[in-house]
Amino acid sequence: MNEPSDLSPSDVLSRRHFLKKSSAAMAGGALLGTLTAERFAHAASTDELKIALVGCGGRGGGAASQALNTSNLGPIKLVAMADVHEDRMQTTLGNLSKQHAARVDVPKERQFLGFDAFEKAIEHADVVILTTPPGFRPMMFEAAVKAGKNVFMEKPVASDAAGVRRVLAAAEEAKKKNLKVGVGLQRHHNAGYIETIKRVHDGQIGDVTSMRAFWNGSRPWQKKRSDLEKQYGRKLTEMEYQLRNWYYFTWICGDHIAEQHIHNLDVINWVKKGYPVKARGMGGREITNSPDDGEIYDHFACQFEYEDGSILFSECRQQPGAWNNVNEYAVGTKGRADLGGHKIFAAENWRAKSEGKDDYQQEHDDLFAAIRDNKEYNEAFNGAHSTMTAILGRMAAYSGKEIEMQAALNSKIELLPKELGWDKPTPVNPGADGYYQRAVPGKTAVL
Ligand SMILES: NC(=O)c1ccc[n+]([C@@H]2O[C@H](COP(=O)([O-])OP(=O)(O)OC[C@H]3O[C@@H](n4cnc5c(N)ncnc54)[C@H](O)[C@@H]3O)[C@@H](O)[C@H]2O)c1
Repeated sequence: MNEPSDLSPSDVLSRRHFLKKSSAAMAGGALLGTLTAERFAHAASTDELKIALVGCGGRGGGAASQALNTSNLGPIKLVAMADVHEDRMQTTLGNLSKQHAARVDVPKERQFLGFDAFEKAIEHADVVILTTPPGFRPMMFEAAVKAGKNVFMEKPVASDAAGVRRVLAAAEEAKKKNLKVGVGLQRHHNAGYIETIKRVHDGQIGDVTSMRAFWNGSRPWQKKRSDLEKQYGRKLTEMEYQLRNWYYFTWICGDHIAEQHIHNLDVINWVKKGYPVKARGMGGREITNSPDDGEIYDHFACQFEYEDGSILFSECRQQPGAWNNVNEYAVGTKGRADLGGHKIFAAENWRAKSEGKDDYQQEHDDLFAAIRDNKEYNEAFNGAHSTMTAILGRMAAYSGKEIEMQAALNSKIELLPKELGWDKPTPVNPGADGYYQRAVPGKTAVL
C-alpha cells in the first residue's frame, strides 16, 4: 500500500492501524503494493522489494543489476523505469531482461518517458535508483524522499551549490523518515580501502599532514552533434543535444572534477574525517578543443585546505598521452599511505591481501541488508559534502580566486534552468562559431 508522502514512520503506523479498521483501506492498493517503513522492521526477508530505475543508461543498468543480485537477501523485482530517451531505456530494459528474466517486470504502462517521468516511476517503488546525469539528482532525490522511498543514487549528487543544499535538506528529511540512502562512492565499500583507512585512523602513519589525489587520464565518451544528427536523421534541439552529450556541460555534469575526481577527493575527506574549509586552484582547456567539448575544462590543479591546516594537492586531467594516475596518497608524521594501492609505509610496512568483493556489488549488498534489517543507513550527507568539495575546487579554478567552503555552499548561482523541456532554453548556448564560452579565471563569478 502506498502511504501519503509527508507522514513519518510512526504517523504511518498509526494511520495504518486506523485504516485497517475502516473500509477506506480497500482504496489504497491502486499501485503495486509497495512496502511501508514499519514493514521493513518485520517479515523483511520475505517481503518483495520493488525497484524503480530513473536514468536508464550505462550506470543505471549496472546499478539495477546489482540491486537485483541481492535476491539472496529476499525477493526483489524491477517494476518501473524512467528516462528522457526511449532508445536508452529500451536498450537497458533489454539487457536487464536477459540478465534477470524472472526479476524484471516493467510492462509498457510502467515505462515512463519525459522530464517528469521520475515522479511517475517513484510511485511504484520501495527503492528508487537515481542514475541520471548529476544536475537532475537534487530534484529527484527530493521527490523520492518526499514519497517516503529508500534510495540508491549515483555520485555526484548535484552540479551546483544550490543542488547540494537541496540534497542536504532532503537527507535530513530521509533521516527523520528512517529511509535508507546509498550513494555511489563505492570506495567506501571496498575492503582494501576500508582496512587501509582504518589503519590510518588508528595512527599507523601518525598525524596526516599532507595528501595528494589524482584522476589523470583521457576524455571519456563524447556524442558529437554531427553524428547524432546523422543517427536521428534530423536537427536536434539544443536541449536534446546537450542532454545526449551531457558530460560536456557544467550545469548537467558539474565538470569532470565533480564527475570523476569526486571519488579521490571523497577518499581524502574520509581519511581526514572532515571536509576542506577553503580551496585555491587553476584549470583550463588545452588539448581537447572542439564545439563538442562544450564548456568544461580538460585539466584542474587545486589545493584544498582542511581545518587543521593540512593541504590536499589535487589534479584531474583529461589529456591523452600525458601521465595517467587515478589514486590517493596521505603523508603523516610517522609514515605514508598509498590509499588506492592499499599500502602503508611506516615502522611496519603493510599491504592489503585482497580488494574484497566488487565494490559496485558490495555497496548494493550493504544498502539492501540495511533496508531489510531496518538499520540506520544514510550516505547522502557525505555524498553531498564530497560533491561540494569538488564544486569548491571547480569554483576556485573557474574564478581563479581562493574560495571559502561556507561562501561556496551559500552561492546564489543556480546552474539549472527553471524549466526543462526539449524546446526550452538551455543555460548555455554556442556562439556563431559553434563554440561554448568557458569560465575565465579572474573574470568568471562563482558565488
Ligand atoms: N560510481 C561510479 O563509479 C560511476 C560510474 C559510472 C557512472 N556513474 C554516475 O552515474 C550517473 C549516470 O552516468 P552514466 O554513465 O550511466 O550516463 P548515461 O548517459 O549512460 O546514462 C544517463 C541516463 O539518464 C538519462 N537521463 C538524462 N536526463 C534525464 C532526466 N532528466 N530524467 C530521466 N532520465 C534522464 C539518459 O537518457 C541516460 O539514459 C552519473 O552521475 C555518473 O557520474 C558513477
